[in-house]
Amino acid sequence: MIKRKAVAIAVGLILAGGVAYGFLVWRPAFDPIEPPPANGFAAEAIAKGEVLAGVGDCVVCHTAPGGTPYAAASH
Ligand code: HEC
Repeated sequence: MIKRKAVAIAVGLILAGGVAYGFLVWRPAFDPIEPPPANGFAAEAIAKGEVLAGVGDCVVCHTAPGGTPYAAASH
């Protein structure tokens, strides 16, 4: 009888663990958004972004070999 109880407790723990794991890893999908219009950014913000992207050397990874700059991450 003790063995059956132990098995029941083990199964219960495994199920509870599975449910807890599901809660931890569940990520709801974001609702799609309308992308802002390309001309909706201030010229100073774009210039500053260009400088920051240059400082971070973002183009190294975010351009496919021979591709359009910043069009894709190369991984
Ligand atoms: C060493 C390579 C590397 C450099 C340098 C780099 N990135 Fe990334 N970046 C990646 C990789 C790889 C991913 C994808 C990560 C993932 O999906 O888990 C990524 C993802 C991103 C994303 C998310 C894109 C998305 O669709 O989710 C943004 C935004 C981003 N990078 C911006 C930048 C900016 C801004 C810079 C420069 C300051 C930069 N990255 C420099 C490799 C790099």
